[in-house]
Amino acid sequence: MNTTRTLEEILAEYQPTPLAEAFTIPASWYTDARVAELERQAVFGRTWQAVARTDQVAEPGQYAAADVAGEPILVVRGQDAVLRAFFNVCRHHATAVAWEPSGQVTHFRCPYHGWTYGLDGALKGITEFEGVANFDRAANGLVPVRVATWEKFVWVNLDPQAPPLLEFLGPLVERVRPLGLERLQFVERRSYTLACNWKVYVDNYLDGGYHVPHLHKGLNSVLEYTHYTVENDGRCTIQSSPLRSSSDSDAVAAATRQGDRAYYFWQYPNFMINWYEGVMDTNLVLPLAVDRTVVIFDFYFANPSNQTYIRNSIAVSDRIQAEDTAICESVQRGLYSRAYRAGRLSVRREAGEHLFHQLLAADLKKQLGQGGWPPA
Ligand code: FES
Ligand SMILES: [Fe+2]
Repeated sequence: MNTTRTLEEILAEYQPTPLAEAFTIPASWYTDARVAELERQAVFGRTWQAVARTDQVAEPGQYAAADVAGEPILVVRGQDAVLRAFFNVCRHHATAVAWEPSGQVTHFRCPYHGWTYGLDGALKGITEFEGVANFDRAANGLVPVRVATWEKFVWVNLDPQAPPLLEFLGPLVERVRPLGLERLQFVERRSYTLACNWKVYVDNYLDGGYHVPHLHKGLNSVLEYTHYTVENDGRCTIQSSPLRSSSDSDAVAAATRQGDRAYYFWQYPNFMINWYEGVMDTNLVLPLAVDRTVVIFDFYFANPSNQTYIRNSIAVSDRIQAEDTAICESVQRGLYSRAYRAGRLSVRREAGEHLFHQLLAADLKKQLGQGGWPPA
């Protein structure tokens, strides 16, 4: 890490320009821990973050726990059917009140000293607290967090000033509606940890299919690469490709990637939906450190009883993910090299990355008081 330059100087290295003239964000943004900390506050602490599936919190008492911008969070369905979110932090001495990733309870019992909270967050039972003066039980419930749902996903936002979820998602809402996600059922989750910055993974996703013929031979055999389209709309990028059914297609890939078109949606900053006829996966990209990232894949299928199809489909995804992981980790090593500062972008392919970099730069600079979005 180059600590001789200030964060302001590092941010000033990127200036938004039209795509034809654009560079990527500089390498230091992928390697400097100060940038990662700024992102935690300005990006993950201010945007809507997908934290659970609606099927996990469908019934009263069902909850899911998550980490958002380093904060422990839980979402829970109340007895009154209202979905609420709280900081998963006991008001006594700060331990997590819910320890499992998900479950169903009638109340939360803190594992440390046994305080209990209702599903509405209210502090109910307090052990051995007789004689404590000036303690207001009503003011010591779990601290609430903003929560909202869209399609199959539960989102929270740590920023009380942020726009509502649907406003944040903007055009994505109408773009996804015709795909009928309600016809799909969650089947399996897989998590992949990569030795790279989270933005390397997002960049790789947003390169408009540029890497597909070179890196993903199996996938390439089912996509009509030359007709691959990239469209930016609001805070989302929609990539789409017609599918082909030629005899030289990779057999397993072809068998599990069906229909006329594939759609790949990215919503700033870190959520993706990959949709084929009858099958979908979502990707949630979460930074663990400046050079470490976990990507959570949730797989959904229209026919969850077709085990062979599901196994093959997930195996295809696994293979693609292994190819992407190797490339992303190689990129991260290159970003640390003195030989690299920033790269240019393909106008034909890399408009999504351009949007990502501009949105990110705007959020980081706004946090430091360097101007907002859109750039003047
Ligand atoms: S920390 Fe929860 S009861 Fe003490
Ligand atoms: Fe890829």
